[in-house]
Amino acid sequence: MALVTLTREGRTLSDIGEIKACLSLCGIDYERWTLSKPVSADAPAEEILQAYSHEIEELKSSGGYVTADVIDVGPQTPGLDAMLAKFDREHWHDEDEVRFTIAGHGLFHINSEELGVVAIEVEAGDMIRVPRGTKHWFNLCGDRRIRAIRLFQDVSGWTPHYTGSQVDSGYAPVCFGVSHVARG
Ligand SMILES: [Fe+2]
Repeated sequence: MALVTLTREGRTLSDIGEIKACLSLCGIDYERWTLSKPVSADAPAEEILQAYSHEIEELKSSGGYVTADVIDVGPQTPGLDAMLAKFDREHWHDEDEVRFTIAGHGLFHINSEELGVVAIEVEAGDMIRVPRGTKHWFNLCGDRRIRAIRLFQDVSGWTPHYTGSQVDSGYAPVCFGVSHVARG
């Protein structure tokens, strides 16, 4: 289950109903995907996509996404820091950012008009859809690992547009769930 922190209020939500209601105020969809027949988090990408094909097809038809893939990064990934540095400053995209976490953890910060800065820590089973144009940034957690399904409307829309606001520098990329794990 995700952990959602409303930084303006200093309040953390961990109840699925509260999380859904809160995130919907800034246009973000949150779902838990559970399979009746679970698939291993280490299964080949094709097997993962097949196992979640029903959920993926539903999202594709409701959001206009045309492709889905599986991203897998960890402490041993070459160039990991350079890759992460592209997304740890406030930015937005021309298309939705859709992620379903299979393994590992991630920390999204959303800078919304409605709620101020909201931190969303995701783990396995969490689907999050951040609408195009939403200001946000992303960090890994202490385990430095995430494996996730991504959906795209158009891969070219994935380029980050940086705001240069430096709002991100005021928020430590701290994950509650695995903050005790040393950085790799
Ligand atoms: Fe992004």
